[in-house]
Amino acid sequence: MAGRIPQSFIDEVLARTDIVEVLGSRVALKKAGREWKACCPFHGEKTPSFTVSQTKQFYHCFGCGAHGTALGFLMEHDRMSFVEAVEDLAQRAGLEVPRDGPAGPSDRDRQEADLYALMQETDQHFRDQLRDSERAKDYLKARGLTGETAARYHLGYAPAGWDGLLRRFGSTEAGRAALLACGLVIERQAEPGKASTGLYDRFRDRVMFPIRDSRGRVVGFGGRVLDQGEPKYLNSPETPLFHKGRELYGLYEARQELRQITRLLVVEGYMDVVRLAQFGIHYAVATLGTATTPEHLNRLFRVTTDVVFCFDGDRAGRQAAWRALETALPFARDGRQLKFLFLPDGHDPDTLVAEEGREAFEARLESALPLSEYLVTHLGQQADLATVDGRARLAELARPLVQKLPGGVYRELLLERLALEVRMPASRLSSLLGIGADDGVRAPSEPLRRAAVQRRGGRGTLVSQAIERLLQHPGSVRHVGGRDALAAVREGRGIEVLNELLDTLAAEPGLSSAQLLERWRDRAEYERLVELAGSPLPDLDDAAIGREIDSIVAKIVEEYGPEKRWTELIAKADSVGLSAEETSELKDLLRQKRERS
Ligand code: UTP
Ligand code: MN
Repeated sequence: MAGRIPQSFIDEVLARTDIVEVLGSRVALKKAGREWKACCPFHGEKTPSFTVSQTKQFYHCFGCGAHGTALGFLMEHDRMSFVEAVEDLAQRAGLEVPRDGPAGPSDRDRQEADLYALMQETDQHFRDQLRDSERAKDYLKARGLTGETAARYHLGYAPAGWDGLLRRFGSTEAGRAALLACGLVIERQAEPGKASTGLYDRFRDRVMFPIRDSRGRVVGFGGRVLDQGEPKYLNSPETPLFHKGRELYGLYEARQELRQITRLLVVEGYMDVVRLAQFGIHYAVATLGTATTPEHLNRLFRVTTDVVFCFDGDRAGRQAAWRALETALPFARDGRQLKFLFLPDGHDPDTLVAEEGREAFEARLESALPLSEYLVTHLGQQADLATVDGRARLAELARPLVQKLPGGVYRELLLERLALEVRMPASRLSSLLGIGADDGVRAPSEPLRRAAVQRRGGRGTLVSQAIERLLQHPGSVRHVGGRDALAAVREGRGIEVLNELLDTLAAEPGLSSAQLLERWRDRAEYERLVELAGSPLPDLDDAAIGREIDSIVAKIVEEYGPEKRWTELIAKADSVGLSAEETSELKDLLRQKRERS
């Protein structure tokens, strides 16, 4: 991908796109009132619950919860990458995709094409070198890999020596610049005050694992030492082509191998992915020595609904697992499965599958811990559940996590599970945790879901009520008055998201729902926002919605404003002490608080 596609261009593409046209060529849409309906292309059904709104430029399925913009549809349905989807829509609209960047867009594109070409030639070069190296081939054989697997993953070998790639591709100034831009060579550290004395190959005497993007283009490499040596794995640095937090090793190969990917297994290492494939498990992918990012999760769930994270049983593995859980919470929406598998200490998937074979390994996947189970057991270990205090502590620990979950079956199950542990009714627990009992479209079964839809606008938390209105009727912002008071309310509970939406719309009042949503695509709150954009609302005009938002905002300020002041005053009392006025203010707040509860 050349530099980022500017937001203004994405806006323009969406403005010139009609979602009904785009989806209409793929799904049999029928007009139903102001909206369009069809049987959902994402799950089997006989009565249509897939709805497309022309005004919002947004689709939503009340059956399976699928939802998004035209861009999102192309990504989920046609399995396009984001850039591919933008390109597709741009082409329909007769627009050419520009890219941000100092050089003019066409220069930049050309440069980038050169870099991709160099990466591909380098990949071929390393593969050729592997063919000629008995030592490297022996290493791979000793690790249980066949030639077929090595070919499938384009495994290669970077020979020892400082200038293998330099001699092959670096004979011109442009060639050397490209090698440097691709991170394949390194600039020698100069003596202080002197110019650099030249370049040398980054990867030397290492087995090479090319990292391919969703279109199969080589964007980076990981290289493993054959013997002992540090670091064990050396990875490409961030380059214009390669962003570690975005790529998943093995995803391209999995999609090549499998017609349908029903689940993905996220492991820690290159070797794990390759060795699992050797045993016929082709659906493993690895993050590249980094923690799981929201971008990773977006990618994973674009391809499948069922994700299993696999971690070593040691301390580092457990820590990584918990971080993955925290990142994954906003993605746990209906119709998806998130599980955690912990391997016996001292094992990784590579050694384990070799020891016990495919069937036994896959049986472990079946019995992996569901997200809710993992969350509850993990937190349970930090509190003494035999005591009232301990149970209260568990609820406190769970609060920020539960709040990250989108409303839906997942959250319901988790609440019930937690309620069991803290020994109180789930309904009380959810109000204790600040979660609206009717948040969003949450009904687990079809009849319940329909009931929720018919209720037209089930109440959510105040903040989500305001957000869903704003998202679905961006024009209503013109009728919203109480922004300043809200801006002063303390952050958290999504208030900062609401503030940001209001600010965005104040700056760009003409944005459509789809344009607004696309601004959040790469952020953790995206899933939740898309969900709110699809939740049912009463049929009102912008002015009426604006008035509703105003009164919701007033309630938020009333509820959380004093709390902010309260926290400030308490903190001040603890540190420098309060003036007489502040003391009486605090007393007032205390009295109001008592009256409210
Ligand atoms: P591990 O140390 O668990 O290695 O690193 P491994 O995958 O089991 O490797 P083998 O079996 O010894 O060959 C897991 C992942 O962490 C990243 C790599 O992506 C590796 O696959 N890593 C590890 C690095 O980036 N650098 C390192 O030095 C080590
Ligand atoms: Mn290993």
